[in-house]
Amino acid sequence: MKINQTVLVVLFLTLSSSSIGVFGGNLFDDLHCSWGNGRSKIVNNGQLLSVTLDKVSGSGFESNGKYLFARIDMLIKLVSGNSAGTVTAFFLSSKGKGHDEIDFEFLGNVSGQPYTVHTNVFCNGEGKREQQFRLWFDPTADFHKYSILWSPHHIVWLVDETPIREFKNLESKGVPFPKNKAMKLYSSLWEADNWATRGGLVKIDWSKAPFKAFFKEFRAEKYNCDWSKGYPSCTPPSRSIFSFWTSPDKFFKTLDHGAMGKLNRVKQNNMIYNYCKDFKRFPNGLPKECQYN
Ligand SMILES: *[C@@H]1O[C@H](CO)[C@@H](O)[C@H](O)[C@H]1NC(C)=O
Repeated sequence: MKINQTVLVVLFLTLSSSSIGVFGGNLFDDLHCSWGNGRSKIVNNGQLLSVTLDKVSGSGFESNGKYLFARIDMLIKLVSGNSAGTVTAFFLSSKGKGHDEIDFEFLGNVSGQPYTVHTNVFCNGEGKREQQFRLWFDPTADFHKYSILWSPHHIVWLVDETPIREFKNLESKGVPFPKNKAMKLYSSLWEADNWATRGGLVKIDWSKAPFKAFFKEFRAEKYNCDWSKGYPSCTPPSRSIFSFWTSPDKFFKTLDHGAMGKLNRVKQNNMIYNYCKDFKRFPNGLPKECQYN
């Protein structure tokens, strides 16, 4: 009994100290500022990243590495106050023609009015799979965790561990799914007042510039994929880098029962646009995947 307890305590200390090592990760190792002439910056010894938008330019950063199936986490604090006309984007994208892309975009609003969370998937350059949401908290008051889980089985967008959208791999039904092109993570803050807020009616208030958003605790968990069989056969890593308590294969294949419940609640209460309900836009029939969602 005594020995068992000691063993447990030692085990616990070992695991928690090694995960602290990962948690204290340095943003310089994984990301670099790539746009905006010094308007995006990694500060606090690699613990915080800020992006800035002023009248001259927006700014942004990208990952050093590329991913082909991974789960990406980031804590983000969005532009506060009157952010109308600004867009903070956080997305995975491949390079070149016929690109693949998985988007999270945050469309600002006038003070006190809610942000719109915009999501989309592109496969071979073809998008048009937008879903939009309202958040259940003020995303400018504090940091919240936004994650993209991209496995060969599905793509899941998560907010503070709550799945808000799932895009399943329905290749067997003839629906394209991004699986061949490695993607980098990109993030930027830019001006889009021609469409972002109420379809472009509300313009940026430049007297409030510079606008700023903040990022921290970037984590990327790559899945181990074997490409020798033509189609990738992937497994999650043996131990999660996210936490000792989260199993690394959590949501790798499917959402569990609890997560499905949360997803359905978000669909009911927080979704404000779904391309699969937009019959006007697709007069010749909704995209194929809509019948399976
Ligand atoms: C901004 O707030 C208004 C009023 O609440 C809302 O109609 C609109 O959808 C919000 N979001 C954006 C991005 O315009």
